[in-house]
Amino acid sequence: MKKKLSQKADKYELYEEAVQNVDFEVDFYQKMFKKYSSRKAKDLREDFCASAKISSKWVSECEDHFAYAIDLDEKILKYAKKISQDDLTINQTKRLRFIKANSINYSSPKVDIVSACNFSYWVFKKRDQLIKYFKNSHRCLKKDGLFILDAFGGYEAHQELEERTKYKNFTYVWDQDSFNPITNDLTCFIHFEFKDKSSINKAFRYDWRLWSLQEIKECLNEAGFKTVDVYMQGWDEKKDEETERFYKMKKCDADPGWLAYIIAKK
Ligand SMILES: C[S@@+](CC[C@H](N)C(=O)[O-])C[C@H]1O[C@@H](n2cnc3c(N)ncnc32)[C@H](O)[C@@H]1O
Repeated sequence: MKKKLSQKADKYELYEEAVQNVDFEVDFYQKMFKKYSSRKAKDLREDFCASAKISSKWVSECEDHFAYAIDLDEKILKYAKKISQDDLTINQTKRLRFIKANSINYSSPKVDIVSACNFSYWVFKKRDQLIKYFKNSHRCLKKDGLFILDAFGGYEAHQELEERTKYKNFTYVWDQDSFNPITNDLTCFIHFEFKDKSSINKAFRYDWRLWSLQEIKECLNEAGFKTVDVYMQGWDEKKDEETERFYKMKKCDADPGWLAYIIAKK
């Protein structure tokens, strides 16, 4: 019997195509580090790394780049290791370490940049847990190190909704399944749909707290970060869509949905 498209698909590859832009991430990290620390960044700790695509890109960028890719899940780390061996040279794989650990307390060697991408740190739902994680990131940074996080928000983030985006071979569905305004608990799923009507339902699940930028900033300060800046995504008026540029801002419009980076300096 002919296999359905959903059976032939690799959900991690679909995720990368739909969600991640590792070229942008790595370029952005390097630019931010140069701007804040006036030197070239060499070591990266990628927390919640999953398939570790950012770390892989990092070590492939430059011969003196080193990365620690950290995740709790042994299965995803095995997968990450396998695909990195397919993508990278032997020399590059030697500069990439996969570590099964909890980012809240794992003590890595000190690095230039710690990154927590795609809102993964929102698994820490209590304020003291979030601060504990931020303190650990602070400890694992060199003197002039940077902690780079992202966040989303806007009034649409408080809604239960489904957003569909079409790609060449599949449709990506972002499903904000439930939101509790009393606790800010947010449960989201990613589903993938295919042209033959097959689908991968609940390919990924996220149980998060929707943290506000002000709360995140306060927790970072409490964890010891001296400078905390917010960069909001730009908007192209002509194309009526987001740009790939982020701007440091103190005040901005109450848009329905926004994406931000938070840059915290030790
Ligand atoms: C949203 S995915 C990662 C996304 C990836 N960082 C990206 O940029 O697309 C979240 C990952 O975090 C891992 N994870 C969850 N809690 C963790 C923890 N406390 N410490 C380390 N990894 C954790 C999960 O196993 C999962 O692979």
